[in-house]
Amino acid sequence: MKNGSRHNNLLQHSNGIENNLLTPYYSANQTKNQSLNYSKPLKFVNLNAKNLPGIPTIISGRIYTKDKQIVPNAKIEIWHADDVGAYNNEGNFYFPSQTTLSGCIFTDASGTYKIKTIRPGIYGYRARHFHYKISAKGHHSLETQIYFKDDPRILIDEIALVAENCRIIDFRYSNMGNLEGIVDVFLPKI
Ligand SMILES: [Fe+2]
Repeated sequence: MKNGSRHNNLLQHSNGIENNLLTPYYSANQTKNQSLNYSKPLKFVNLNAKNLPGIPTIISGRIYTKDKQIVPNAKIEIWHADDVGAYNNEGNFYFPSQTTLSGCIFTDASGTYKIKTIRPGIYGYRARHFHYKISAKGHHSLETQIYFKDDPRILIDEIALVAENCRIIDFRYSNMGNLEGIVDVFLPKI
């Protein structure tokens, strides 16, 4: 896939405040404790197959229904800019190990997912952000953006500024030097 085309295709559907106001689709807020009690260690999907420079960042989370039922095999598409704010989404989007800073992954049997990538850079007036698109059989799909709590650019980004608190993630540095955050999402049933 050519440079940025995947990003642009998906962005057409997400580039608007309307899409930022899907409040009911999200958990009330992130847990204060930045660790999840998984029954076994999750293997992460590495979105930075080309080892581009940047701050290593790990996102984990679960996909739920509103009544807290887990959603296994939910498709999560994630894409974001590199450390200097450029999109490098060439490669096969459906095989994250072959792409750069983008990919399609699935939740496991317990509805969980985990990715490793780098912190997105900034471009234009935008705050740092991840693009997410989540879909699962029998559920409404969701396309949205995730932000960093300590990013002062949220105040000058009209799209980020109206994001609900639950989409502004409190990424913290781990002992390993990674930025780590939890992104849980409610996906309503059809
Ligand atoms: Fe973007």
